[in-house]
Amino acid sequence: MHQKNLLMLYILLSYDGVQGERILSKSEDVELEKQLKLLNKPAIKIVQVIFFLSLFFCLQTKYGDTYDCVDFYKQHAFDHPLLKDHNFHPKMKPTLSSIKKNSSDSTSSWSSTIWSKDGCCPFGTVPIKRITKDDILRQRHLPPPEDVTFDAQFDVSNNNSEPKKDTHLDIRKQPFFNLVAIARTPYDANNKFRGAGMVTNFYNPEVDGRQHSACRLKIQKGSEILQVGWRVDPTLYGDSKTRLFIHTQVDKTHCFNTLCSGFVHVNTEIPLDMSLMNSVAHRGGTTFEGRIYIEQDLDSGNWWLLLSDNYDQVGFWPQQIFTGLASFATNVEWGGVVYSPPGVPKPPMGSSYSPIGDNLYDAFCRSITVLNETGTVNQVDKVTIHIDNPNMYQAIFERLESDKESYLYVLYGGPGEKSQI
Ligand SMILES: *[C@@H]1O[C@H](CO)[C@@H](O)[C@H](O)[C@H]1NC(C)=O
Ligand SMILES: *[C@@H]1O[C@H](CO)[C@@H](O)[C@H](O)[C@H]1NC(C)=O
Ligand SMILES: *[C@@H]1O[C@H](CO)[C@@H](O)[C@H](O)[C@H]1NC(C)=O
Repeated sequence: MHQKNLLMLYILLSYDGVQGERILSKSEDVELEKQLKLLNKPAIKIVQVIFFLSLFFCLQTKYGDTYDCVDFYKQHAFDHPLLKDHNFHPKMKPTLSSIKKNSSDSTSSWSSTIWSKDGCCPFGTVPIKRITKDDILRQRHLPPPEDVTFDAQFDVSNNNSEPKKDTHLDIRKQPFFNLVAIARTPYDANNKFRGAGMVTNFYNPEVDGRQHSACRLKIQKGSEILQVGWRVDPTLYGDSKTRLFIHTQVDKTHCFNTLCSGFVHVNTEIPLDMSLMNSVAHRGGTTFEGRIYIEQDLDSGNWWLLLSDNYDQVGFWPQQIFTGLASFATNVEWGGVVYSPPGVPKPPMGSSYSPIGDNLYDAFCRSITVLNETGTVNQVDKVTIHIDNPNMYQAIFERLESDKESYLYVLYGGPGEKSQI
């Protein structure tokens, strides 16, 4: 295993429940500098971005995030030992049958973003946030990923047989403090998914310190999991904004966005951690929606991340880095997940209220789809609901009207322990 992967793993696994920062020793500082050098690739151009969705007549909220435009070929993805001899290039496009479909069910475009006077990243580069020492120190407190045994147990217990124990991942031996309220594809030994999608609305639940709260689309086969969605995560981002995220887990390696190698970014306009604060819904008021897909290119086996009705291509997870997902996924999930370390109250999820069956009041994932083995889009009309703590969070699946059309909604959310603080 390569040293850098070990390094990342160390950073991510060194979560130890200790609150606050320590003074760094000189050797720790040297180590940090090394990590920074690995994570921060030389910038071709440095840009300030201001995001907004064109539908909303405003530039009222501006975000001063600074991104480096990193040469496509220098991105961290290509530090992956299995991508040494890749032939990827900045013009790559997926061949997806679903792209040709015509949807009457339209959402706003994620890429209608406005960059400052300098414009977005030039072709051949990708926007990547510069990592600071503070980021690395904070991110040491990121919790371990969600327990992958959950799925195995859940599947098989549905079948009334012994829960399957998978001892692959050492990280599972740590206690887990994630709670989910989700819908998932019903267990079927023959499940073979080539992709999945959803339309989701964005909220900004109140999350402090080491808590986080997220909504995601998750696809899985065994211990390989890909996630995309939005999250409020001060430990990851250093602020309490609602931001886009991806999470990659391949056996023992797991990370957000591009903190580990594996995801090849191609889009010059959409950073993986982009702020969504201008599209945050107000409960009972306006709701903004974004469409998200993870779809496998049946020719290459790469898993593409696509946003909006235009199928804006953000980038892809190359087939080479997987064993299980090299072929297809067996589970798909939609919904909310929260986390807090021991002794810290559980944060709110979604709209911060339990769903009431009204899409103006509830956080949701609607129009959920899976792609079957041949890459055909199928609407999902049967799900299994799983809620870790029904006293704090809820999830329901029902048909609701929206703009005279009716869609199936996964409505999820809850106050957590907020009322008890
Ligand atoms: C797509 O939708 C547009 C507008 O509704 C329509 O004019 C066009 O014929 C449709 N194309 C296909 C391939 O269905
Ligand atoms: C589930 O149960 C069916 C019928 O008893 C059996 O054929 C199948 O192998 C079981 N699947 C798993 C994964 O245990
Ligand atoms: C994929 O889905 C389409 C449409 O629902 C269906 O006609 C086709 O038989 C499915 N293919 C497989 C392999 O399940």
